[in-house]
Amino acid sequence: MSDLKIVVAGAGGRMGAANIRAVAATPGMTLHAALVRASSTVLGKDACLQAGLDPLDVPFSADTETALIGADAIIDFSAPLVSVDLAQKAAERGLIHVIGTTGCSAAEDWAIAQAGHNGARIIKAGNFSLGVSLLAGLVKKAAAALADYDIEIVEMHHNGKVDAPSGTALMLGQAAADGRGLDLAEQSVRGRDGQTGPRRAGTIGFAALRGGTVVGDHSVILAGPSERIELTHRAQDRSLFANGAVRAVQWAQNQPPGFYDMADVLGLNE
Ligand SMILES: NC(=O)c1ccc[n+]([C@@H]2O[C@H](COP(=O)([O-])OP(=O)(O)OC[C@H]3O[C@@H](n4cnc5c(N)ncnc54)[C@H](OP(=O)(O)O)[C@@H]3O)[C@@H](O)[C@H]2O)c1
Repeated sequence: MSDLKIVVAGAGGRMGAANIRAVAATPGMTLHAALVRASSTVLGKDACLQAGLDPLDVPFSADTETALIGADAIIDFSAPLVSVDLAQKAAERGLIHVIGTTGCSAAEDWAIAQAGHNGARIIKAGNFSLGVSLLAGLVKKAAAALADYDIEIVEMHHNGKVDAPSGTALMLGQAAADGRGLDLAEQSVRGRDGQTGPRRAGTIGFAALRGGTVVGDHSVILAGPSERIELTHRAQDRSLFANGAVRAVQWAQNQPPGFYDMADVLGLNE
């Protein structure tokens, strides 16, 4: 069987480099193209060399149409508008599209899900790590079991992150809301400042810290009378997410078109 041909989008970014390394390290996969912005400073340079590997003669490119010719899958950790556009192109071509991009609006998420109904195999997750997927399951159970405990979600990321709360924090918030049968949009409280009044019962609070090179720390705190439970995950290295993205591509090979998440990949939804 020939290798799966992978297009990495957002290839010039931190996750882009990790994804290029993960694809190169995976038997049965080949880097087919590395997409960056037309204004990117790495345009035309060898993508593997830039990611710390031996050169492979795949230069960074901004030509999406050409990049997708002959491709099997896209691994895309970029920006919401890029991911929406690529999802539509993946649907037209019946491709696998693994999306790690966070910060999508509800309309952007809807457009991406539609692509999954129109021929693409989309796997989108706010966090591609195995540990976080398991943590979400634990949070759902804890939220249901300790139904009257206050839930607060605290996350910290590097100083270059552009969206808050993180996609992972929102995913954990959704797990907590699911555990209690709540609508997260109605119950979520995003940061507090000034005369906020006492905490409204049943809400799920989010706080975002930014600094240094932190890859991603998340804590879900359940605070009750005289006790507090903290469920914490700390990512140490971006290869964690890239390995999950590669695993998602492998899983999607045998799936029909649709819109999936990491829990599907790990069999946690069965
Ligand atoms: N789901 C997960 O497990 C997970 C894990 C880590 C990160 N993420 C998410 O993945 C995304 C990328 O993270 P990162 O740390 O790699 O960020 P980053 O280092 O800032 O890289 C972002 C990449 O996207 C490109 N990009 C941004 N806006 C673009 C646009 N309008 N058109 C084309 N390309 C554009 C950037 O291009 P330039 O190089 O030209 O600026 C860059 O290559 C973020 O949304 C982040 O939250 C998800």
